[in-house]
Amino acid sequence: MTRLSGWFAAADRIDKIYWQRDPVMTNDNHLTFRQFMLREYRAHGTSKDLIFLLEDIATACRTISHKIRSGAFAGTLGATDDTNVQGETQKELDVIANDQFMLHCANCSRVAALVSEELDNVVWLKDKAEAGDYIVYFDPLDGSSNLELNISVGSIFSIVELKEPLAELTDEAVLIAGTEQICAGYSLFGPSTSLVVTTGQGVNGFTHLNGTGEFLLTFPDMMVPASTQEYAINASRQNYWDAPVQRYVSECLQGSEGPRGKKFNMRWVASMVAEVHRILTRGGVFMYPKDSDNAAMGGRLRLLYEANPMAFIIEQAGGKATIGGGRIMDVDPSSLHQRVGVILGSAEEVDLLESYYAEAQ
Ligand code: AHG
Ligand code: MN
Ligand code: MN
Repeated sequence: MTRLSGWFAAADRIDKIYWQRDPVMTNDNHLTFRQFMLREYRAHGTSKDLIFLLEDIATACRTISHKIRSGAFAGTLGATDDTNVQGETQKELDVIANDQFMLHCANCSRVAALVSEELDNVVWLKDKAEAGDYIVYFDPLDGSSNLELNISVGSIFSIVELKEPLAELTDEAVLIAGTEQICAGYSLFGPSTSLVVTTGQGVNGFTHLNGTGEFLLTFPDMMVPASTQEYAINASRQNYWDAPVQRYVSECLQGSEGPRGKKFNMRWVASMVAEVHRILTRGGVFMYPKDSDNAAMGGRLRLLYEANPMAFIIEQAGGKATIGGGRIMDVDPSSLHQRVGVILGSAEEVDLLESYYAEAQ
């Protein structure tokens, strides 16, 4: 047997102890994010590189949260003079959050490329993209129109592992369907900071314990309740909705006397991260459908870094996610900043909406 000595022996021992030992809970029965990921490694063989990347993303999210919490004192509220590739004015914090994601994702040697709402094109971090390399897609700050209002915002990310080397390092090369995601997550910067992650083994939610720098497991195995009495849609767009959405909302509004036979509640935060977090917590359905006003763009929300990661999370939690006539994750992407209709949440409601879309065909 090969005998290792010196630093290598120590490293080998540490590797065995660190990765093989069942993590011990040290924070009042809450696993830290790292302890939880070590369990995932032991149970499902989650890649160590993915775990390191997720820790770097968690650091980016903690830093963004810290900067947002400084509010008006940090001099970071307000717009820049720039617009992103989609013609939207960039906020100071959009740019800061994007920098944080880029900085921390670049730490992982397996990350070949970054795709961001705030970047016109793919940023390549390697000269070659090999099988096993990661592409990270992110919306560094979601809901940024809420920043000045001190209303919740968030960050969204999605990770794809390449099955084959890429022949060319072009924007087209990273147009990969959502079914290929190996991980997705978001951080919600609300009254507390949450981190919610799936690696395809269910959905787990962590809360940042202020002062310790740790995300602790507070919401294990999050599940979307199958039925609900709550929906979320920007009702100011009603004139533009197509028939299936008009019918669904009208039936909800009729309450106990209507065909649904129950009263519905409505919420609209204008931060998809906050809407998805509410749905994971108490159920509901979120709609930002393709309508007659946004149809030329394909919808409002972006497929690769908004719709796909949220669809993966919602499906992993037992819910459903569609474009209004088909599963979001089955969409074959055609451009980097492609937009789609988004309907996601409790399975019974999404199924009902899909049946209305099918009837309207
Ligand atoms: P972003 O701030 O990243 O551009 O995304 C905002 C999105 C989404 O979070 C939300 O559901 C939607 O835009 C809100 O749109 P309206 O302003 O049309 O309500
Ligand atoms: Mn967004
Ligand atoms: Mn954004």
